[in-house]
Amino acid sequence: TYVVTENCIACKYTDCVEVCPVDCFYEGENTLVIHPDECIDCGVCEPECPADAIRPDTEPDMEKWVEFNRKYSELWPVIISKKDPMPGAEERDGEEGKMEKYFS
Ligand code: F3S
Repeated sequence: TYVVTENCIACKYTDCVEVCPVDCFYEGENTLVIHPDECIDCGVCEPECPADAIRPDTEPDMEKWVEFNRKYSELWPVIISKKDPMPGAEERDGEEGKMEKYFS
């Protein structure tokens, strides 16, 4: 599966949702997540993210992100259309500690 990781927080570009063939992105206030059981591992979303926030779970230390994506995809509504990024997305792209600072 692919997962959305920390750099999506406070950016939320949403280019990813436009290309997903199975509509498995879910939207919270300041980040998106992928439902790990619905993701078919096609990989088309990964290069679409301007913030490079989408990673395959085969990379090291991805367990916590799989759990994060699983937890919130069960709670949040599906998103199937691109929308404007969050205000200040470009400045916050790559910022450290986004989870502590912005996730709510
Ligand atoms: Fe987030 Fe990147 Fe999608 S910033 S909303 S994972 S395009």
